[in-house]
Amino acid sequence: MSGPELPPLWRDLEFLAPMSPSRADDLARWVADGLTDGGTVLDVGCGWAELLLRVLEAAPRAVGAGVDLDADRVEEGRRRAAARGLADRTRLLAGPGAEAVEGPVEALLVVGASQVWGPDVDEGLPLDHAAALAAMRRQVVTGARVVHAEAVWSVPPTPAATARLSGRDDEFLAPAALADLVADHGFEVHAQEEADLAEWDAFEAGFTARWDRWLADHPADHPDAAAVSAAAAGQRAAYHQGYRGVLGFTFLRLVAV
Ligand SMILES: C[S@@+](CC[C@H](N)C(=O)[O-])C[C@H]1O[C@@H](n2cnc3c(N)ncnc32)[C@H](O)[C@@H]1O
Repeated sequence: MSGPELPPLWRDLEFLAPMSPSRADDLARWVADGLTDGGTVLDVGCGWAELLLRVLEAAPRAVGAGVDLDADRVEEGRRRAAARGLADRTRLLAGPGAEAVEGPVEALLVVGASQVWGPDVDEGLPLDHAAALAAMRRQVVTGARVVHAEAVWSVPPTPAATARLSGRDDEFLAPAALADLVADHGFEVHAQEEADLAEWDAFEAGFTARWDRWLADHPADHPDAAAVSAAAAGQRAAYHQGYRGVLGFTFLRLVAV
């Protein structure tokens, strides 16, 4: 919503995705193990670059690049890189990811960011997976390790879930269908995992927390209070009465072939 200034999402979320810190560390270690000295890992749609920075911590001789449309998130990523002594190995850019020419690289992270190569999520259209995967393959060398994570239907979509999302059954794929598509685009699927409900619950709670923080910091008769309260309630209802357990998030570990 526009209007009231809300606290940044990174205050209550480690990642802008339903991904636990321990899962992120596992993924980061796997990516780091495939990097050579001086090799580059690129994160497209990096947000505040938390996963990228974890890869760089696990791969002390690698360099990292990240790009995200949201300049505030990129700035937070730079702050984190500096605080962790990673600034000299990290280059973060604010701008459209599809135009980030940084490659071909040895490792690629695309977490919840397929929309970089297609319609914006706000349009409620199915993601253009084919365009995203073709672009991802062009961005990496053969043998590159890629973490590609994306929203999927965990179970066949229910009317209650689709009503709270775009209204379309075809907005997402089943995890196996996404894996098939990936394999058709020059990648081998090394492993596939799905976010569990605890990760989703933590993500949704963190996502909603900024409205609660705003409400706690402002008087109840503030002109924006009703809208902020409605936004929080709407998000909670969408999740708990709608897509909880139906909308999933799959993590694919891919190797470029
Ligand atoms: C679901 S978030 C995931 C962020 C991050 N990968 C993470 O896991 O925390 C998707 C990110 O993609 C960014 N994004 C969306 N469209 C983009 C584009 N065309 N170019 C670059 N970044 C984009 C958004 O700003 C957002 O930060």
